[in-house]
Amino acid sequence: ELRTLIDTLVTKHPLPLLLLLQLLQPLHFCQRYHGISEQDIDEYEEMREEFFGTGPPRPFTKKKFERFYIIEPGRPFHESNYCRDVIMEKNVHFRLKCVTEHYFVLSNFTQMQKICSSVFVPCKNGVRKCNRSKNIIHGVYCKFTGGTIMPDCNYITYERQGFVLVTCRWQNDIQQLIPNSINDIVSPSSELTELD
Ligand SMILES: *[C@@H]1O[C@H](CO)[C@@H](O)[C@H](O)[C@H]1NC(C)=O
Ligand SMILES: *[C@@H]1O[C@H](CO)[C@@H](O)[C@H](O)[C@H]1NC(C)=O
Repeated sequence: ELRTLIDTLVTKHPLPLLLLLQLLQPLHFCQRYHGISEQDIDEYEEMREEFFGTGPPRPFTKKKFERFYIIEPGRPFHESNYCRDVIMEKNVHFRLKCVTEHYFVLSNFTQMQKICSSVFVPCKNGVRKCNRSKNIIHGVYCKFTGGTIMPDCNYITYERQGFVLVTCRWQNDIQQLIPNSINDIVSPSSELTELD
């Protein structure tokens, strides 16, 4: 099964082949190569962890949040394969398993981080607490429709416009609250009074 995964990744994943083939080698082996960017090393470590990791997933960093949740303007949302393609390009998965749903926002990290100091509301599942944006933000909701592991994950794409709910966490090294995940995009016409 591992072999199949590696074959799949070699053909579908944008990482350099050299790094992929060394996936099973310890990192110090890889560090002997010069000219490999820090970003590639990060992705390599992330991928190793996806294969061998058993602990909790690594916390989101700014870079990872941007890669997972932020989209650039330009590409039409109404393309039927939007979610499938963007989820694959951005390599969104949980230890290679398809995620059951996902949100993308047409925004930037600064605007998302501001939401962390905005009003506290219940998250979609009602268990955790989220912060809700003050502004209406344009985004996409991707709902899983079939598949098991990357890259064979299929989604329906729904365009959404509304208030964004994020979960945030404190990041010690920069002493700031940073967004951790996008939990929902709530239509402004839905009942909000109970949340305020
Ligand atoms: C982020 O987005 C907000 C809202 O669209 C915009 O006002 C701001 O200039 C953007 N900041 C950057 C750094 O792009
Ligand atoms: C936003 O959420 C954080 C926790 O993620 C919480 O500590 C903070 O109080 C919330 N902000 C407001 C204004 O409610």
